[in-house]
Amino acid sequence: MSRKLFIAGNWKMNTSAADAVALAEALVSSIGLVEAVDLAVCPPFVYLSPVGEALRGSKITLGAQDVFYEDKGAFTGEVSTDMLIDVGARYVIVGHSERRHVIGETDETINRKLRKALEGGLAPIFCVGELLEQREASETLEVVTRQVKIGLEGVSQADVTGVTIAYEPVWAIGTGLTATPDQAQEVHAMIRELLTGMYDRSVAEKVRIQYGGSVKPTNAAELLEAPDIDGALVGGASLKASDFAQIVKAGM
Ligand code: 13P
Repeated sequence: MSRKLFIAGNWKMNTSAADAVALAEALVSSIGLVEAVDLAVCPPFVYLSPVGEALRGSKITLGAQDVFYEDKGAFTGEVSTDMLIDVGARYVIVGHSERRHVIGETDETINRKLRKALEGGLAPIFCVGELLEQREASETLEVVTRQVKIGLEGVSQADVTGVTIAYEPVWAIGTGLTATPDQAQEVHAMIRELLTGMYDRSVAEKVRIQYGGSVKPTNAAELLEAPDIDGALVGGASLKASDFAQIVKAGM
């Protein structure tokens, strides 16, 4: 297996400008030269530029938390792929559970955003995951299958290897509940099988599938050891430089 682990921090709607820069600087001093693992941080839009400045010269890549599916024009409040590229972002999260379940984004909207990100030269971190009631009703695989299929509709074999899929069970996000390595591995393996059917085995082997949901220094190593878990998308623990650095080290 040649997939390089990819650990990304999603700062969500947190930090001030000063906090964001201080956090980025602390990460640069602790893990800024790590090459064994790919790294990214995704600050709020308004802090992308100063965080990008702070990351300059390090191996930590800049990502955004969302993007719009149109190029330009009368879309008040939205941000385009070109704007993100312009300020130095290389990754973008699409379909995060909070955008699905708090803001109300649909699979179809997420598919448009994902295709636009690829077209614009951004690498999408495409999130999927089931709600607690869906897991309890044994609908997890069905829900995730639908999200992956619609989210990747129209994405070519050449492009899909540039997509990172993040499996984030909604019940594990920000709750302190973490999927066990077996629970996560089951869904990751299912996603890989699905990709094999949609594309082929060699493509499915190249796509990175991250786990997200209460990843912490104490549980990162056992999760990252699972064969189909190719990294982590970290929320809360990415706001503390020492915790994020420990998670990264657990993956090395
Ligand atoms: P937590 O790590 O805070 O559970 O958040 C996970 C997440 O949503 C990352 O995108």
